[in-house]
Amino acid sequence: MAKIAIMGLGVVGGGTADLLTENRERLRKSCGEYLDLKYVLDVRDLPESPYRDLIVHDISAIVNDPEVSVVAETIGGLHPAYDYTVALLSAGKSVVTSNKQLVSEHGAELLALAKAHGCRYLFEASTGGGIPVIGPISRDLSGNEFSEISGILNGTTNYILTRMKGGGVGFETALSEAQKKGYAERDPSADVEGVDACRKIAILAATAFGKLIPPSRIHTEGITAIRQSDVAAAASVHAAVKLLGRAIRRGGECFVLVAPFFVPDDSPLSHVDGVYNAISVTGNYVGDVTFYGRGAGAKATASAVVSDLIAATAGGGVSPVWETADEGFPTEFGTFSCPRYLAFSGVDRNAVRVVFGEVEFIRGAEGEVACLTPNMTERECADAIARLTVGGGQLLSAIRVYESGDRPEA
Ligand code: NDP
Ligand code: HSE
Repeated sequence: MAKIAIMGLGVVGGGTADLLTENRERLRKSCGEYLDLKYVLDVRDLPESPYRDLIVHDISAIVNDPEVSVVAETIGGLHPAYDYTVALLSAGKSVVTSNKQLVSEHGAELLALAKAHGCRYLFEASTGGGIPVIGPISRDLSGNEFSEISGILNGTTNYILTRMKGGGVGFETALSEAQKKGYAERDPSADVEGVDACRKIAILAATAFGKLIPPSRIHTEGITAIRQSDVAAAASVHAAVKLLGRAIRRGGECFVLVAPFFVPDDSPLSHVDGVYNAISVTGNYVGDVTFYGRGAGAKATASAVVSDLIAATAGGGVSPVWETADEGFPTEFGTFSCPRYLAFSGVDRNAVRVVFGEVEFIRGAEGEVACLTPNMTERECADAIARLTVGGGQLLSAIRVYESGDRPEA
């Protein structure tokens, strides 16, 4: 019988304990032995919890128990999750985690530590909730060179944007619904400011390219500036506003960013609604592969945690080696190029045309000029906006337009 422990009995840890209990017989068939939950580490006593008899408050109970070989870390945040993970890996115990903040900031070091001690550091649940994506990219698609990974990586913001698109529900109401459903981070500004998606694209880029980019070097925007009229403008040109994480490699350049995009209806990403996430991966042999499923929530995320618990118990699972990206990686963001949706007040169409050239004017809100620009770099776009605003115009919205990457021959 394999003895395991869970650290942090919150949304994800609680779901994981429930799955281990409810599917106990099913898991024995998958693993060939029972997965026996021996400890639950939490700061609280949780007298009402069905797991109250397993509660411990001191990590040394787990570190020093030779029966426990695999531990799930679902505390979140950097400390004490980092310190506990280091102690466990150093003791030769495998750790599986849903903690994307920790993986995105210390993943290279923790993977190396696991390797040095002959154990595993697995993190399927850190990205895409219940969607198997880390394993498939690192294992099943590992023969490919990847040119792009783009996805809807945050369930909370996708839930909010979907409710806004449906109309009738404002930003704050939709966020509060997402919080009640257990999707949001403890500090939901990490969701709505794009920080959570930034951590996830850092993990996906490292999985695909082998280099962990510090989140602070990833250009990150959230959805707080998105207006109902932007969502309507997108719909008028057969697109949806989606918060995307993107890692793109073209020639010698690599761009990694998180930002809202107009996603055209002919992309599978445009139809991903509610808490669902989707990640499209482009490999030079496989072409496009899209992974789709629930990106947050207790049950879906527990599914991913437990798949790693099963793998680690058997001494398997993908535990790669990552380098830390050097200063030139990713490419300087000012040269990233794409078309844009822009909305202005205080200018007429002529003034916009003079500055931006051949734009396509689209339906905007009352009193606004809205358009789609041709491809332009970040720097070119910022310069053009500055010229227009010096002339009295006011920029109300600027949202990039998603164009998927190069495609291999069909
Ligand atoms: P919760 O806040 O619900 O759970 C965290 C749990 O850890 C709480 O029970 C908390 O107790 C406990 N805890 C806090 N400090 C300690 C400590 N020092 N020792 C032991 N336990 C402690 O968070 P989630 O379950 O939502 O998220 C956990 C992690 O999983 C985060 O990294 C999150 O980003 C990630 N994640 C979350 C998903 C989701 O849908 N919610 C999906 C995928 C990943 P207390 O409440 O008393 O502080
Ligand atoms: N807050 C995160 C989200 C949880 O909404 O996607 C899943 O990682």
